[in-house]
Amino acid sequence: ERLLEKGAKVYGIDCDEEVIEIAKKRLAPFSSLAQYGTFIPVNDNFSNILNIIEKYNIEPADGILFDLGVSSYQLEREERGFSFMKNGPLDMRMSKRVPVTASELIKKISEDNLTKLIFAYGEDRWAKKISRTIVSLRKSMPINTTRQLSELIARAVPKNILKSNIHPATRTFQALRIAVNDELENLEKGLSDAVNILKKDGRIAVISFNSLEDRIVKHFFLNKAKGCTCLPSAIVCVCGGRKELRIMTKKPVVPDGAELDYNRSSRSAKLRVAVKL
Ligand SMILES: C[S@@+](CC[C@H](N)C(=O)[O-])C[C@H]1O[C@@H](n2cnc3c(N)ncnc32)[C@H](O)[C@@H]1O
Repeated sequence: ERLLEKGAKVYGIDCDEEVIEIAKKRLAPFSSLAQYGTFIPVNDNFSNILNIIEKYNIEPADGILFDLGVSSYQLEREERGFSFMKNGPLDMRMSKRVPVTASELIKKISEDNLTKLIFAYGEDRWAKKISRTIVSLRKSMPINTTRQLSELIARAVPKNILKSNIHPATRTFQALRIAVNDELENLEKGLSDAVNILKKDGRIAVISFNSLEDRIVKHFFLNKAKGCTCLPSAIVCVCGGRKELRIMTKKPVVPDGAELDYNRSSRSAKLRVAVKL
């Protein structure tokens, strides 16, 4: 809204059909009032940013902001199945165009692959126990709801884990959501294409909400800031890599106490910013 008040043209990309409709309504006044900039809602995946640029004939951008993950709105809609705090269908798709729901995914996946998935995308040390319990129970009944899954996970992990502040289903839900929506692949593709459509001196900023996303952003920025990837022993550069970004945030920016007081869902957010060279 601040950017629009200053007269910017803002393309808001979100793959969620419901969310983009809300944004369209909320920001409509900006597109009709001459003193403001223009908001253009785009219902697409940011991994398609090159196609979006072509379709909308967009000029090189002054800034690109990635605000990753799911919103509180999505988490609170029980029918979307993102949250273990709500009972709803085990869906977790950020868009109706995503082909497989979380419930379909856990119906077909092998125990071994489910363990790997929960471990890789949820970094859950109890991945093996959880996947074993899911696979043994799915034989007798389909796991179709968020409540079924969260209760089953609570049964799978050691009892002392239940006393911790973090719900034992947190990591498995994160892992399934990441897998269902191909979140990490989309992030890698989106970042890499975004740098190519940024103006010189333009800014790329990313707010991430888990360590997997933050690691990708950190390494992506470091690689683009380094340029040459030849071995240190190489006398001349043979890779031809050139520096494309300068990192503006040596350490990620995290919310301070005041922000945490009014916005608790920012507690795991990390902001990294770089400038195009
Ligand atoms: C943290 S929320 C953003 C909230 C928003 N900035 C606000 O203030 O209301 C992340 C949003 O990104 C969307 N999203 C996640 N991955 C996406 C992707 N690969 N392409 C497009 N949108 C994506 C989600 O649907 C969700 O609405």
